[in-house]
Amino acid sequence: MTPETEKIYDRALEVLRENDRGSYTVPTKGLYPFQWNWDSCLTALGQSHYDEARAWTEIETLLAHQWPDGMVPHIVFHAHSDGYFPGPDVWGTDRPVATSGITQPPVAGFAVRRLFDRARDREAAAQRARALLPRVDAWHRWFYEKRDPSGEGLAAILHPWESGRDNSIDWDEAFDRVPTDGVAPYVRRDTQHADPAHRPTKAQYDRYLWLVQLFRSLGWDNARLHDASPFRVVDPGFNAILIRSATDLAALADELGEHEIAEANRARAARGLAALESLWSARHGQYLCRDRVTGQLIESASIGGILPVFSAVPRQRAQDVARTIERWAERVRFIVPSHDPFDPRFEPKRYWRAPAWLVMNYMIQDGLRAVGETAVADHIVRSSLELITHSGFAEYYDPLTGEPCGGGRFTWTAAMVIEFLEAA
Ligand code: GLC
Repeated sequence: MTPETEKIYDRALEVLRENDRGSYTVPTKGLYPFQWNWDSCLTALGQSHYDEARAWTEIETLLAHQWPDGMVPHIVFHAHSDGYFPGPDVWGTDRPVATSGITQPPVAGFAVRRLFDRARDREAAAQRARALLPRVDAWHRWFYEKRDPSGEGLAAILHPWESGRDNSIDWDEAFDRVPTDGVAPYVRRDTQHADPAHRPTKAQYDRYLWLVQLFRSLGWDNARLHDASPFRVVDPGFNAILIRSATDLAALADELGEHEIAEANRARAARGLAALESLWSARHGQYLCRDRVTGQLIESASIGGILPVFSAVPRQRAQDVARTIERWAERVRFIVPSHDPFDPRFEPKRYWRAPAWLVMNYMIQDGLRAVGETAVADHIVRSSLELITHSGFAEYYDPLTGEPCGGGRFTWTAAMVIEFLEAA
């Protein structure tokens, strides 16, 4: 490392330590004061470089709040805070420690395998990974049972927040079907912590809450939610994460002698990969979402359709996606924007409607490297580190100017920086 990168590394550590609450890490102070599902799994990767035991704890804490049906919730409300809306009283889930009632991209299987592979303390790693295996496996099973009831091989999300790409253009059309009547009056908190121009609109927020109210009225019974929800979308990025996690969990399970878990996950991944093919768009050179209510592909070229390179898609597909990223790179200064910059709906500062996110960059470059697309992968890492030098550890960045947007001193951004620097 150069003195310059060493300084960045130290600043990343500082952000991670500042947001560490002992057994879990908050994404950032203020805006997100609890534990978020995929934030924690990706954060553990950064932690593993300076405190392996702490990294395991991060994921163990999350999975300790798994629901009896297998779902792992998107937020665990460990401690009281008025700073976030919607809090536990809005979700109304009946859990010993309050959680939200929806899930998030299942990146745990990938993270657990990576922690295991790089662990210096082999014995502790084997023990901790072994204990996590059945939990992650149960979560994967839950997706195929509850979110793919007709056995298509792909899981649907029932709320935009499940995608992790909360405000993407991908959801606009399907989301229009969600009514806004009968939503109890509320006060948003996000716009008090971040610039309202970077955040979702009021109409969108009403719909987010309408869905929460519907699911709550159904007692959060996942056997009923899928068919009852007017919003059911198959996101290629989300499924790619699930497929990659299933593949990684299978490999890990084999190493630990848990062959049944390995078999089940290998089969899930194989079916998922075959089904992903139906989401390919030759015209866009990437994958698209499918609206499961109408059965139609959604005409929205977002980073969700770039992310499948993170799973073992056919080499030709990964190469085509790499060319699409190169094409996008002609339009923006920093890659990878979360939406096609040639689309008139591209909004450079609004959350998930164009901005670049380091977690996305991390997963995309990982997948591209695996198929030998090293130049594009290196470009993505370079862009990511330039953003940090330029603008600090923001939640996300304007891909045209590099301006920091959303929350500041952001945990998973810092964790990804450590990952990039350690790999350099
Ligand atoms: C936002 C992001 C989501 C993330 C959360 C906490 O809601 O869209 O992906 O998990 O913030 O960082």
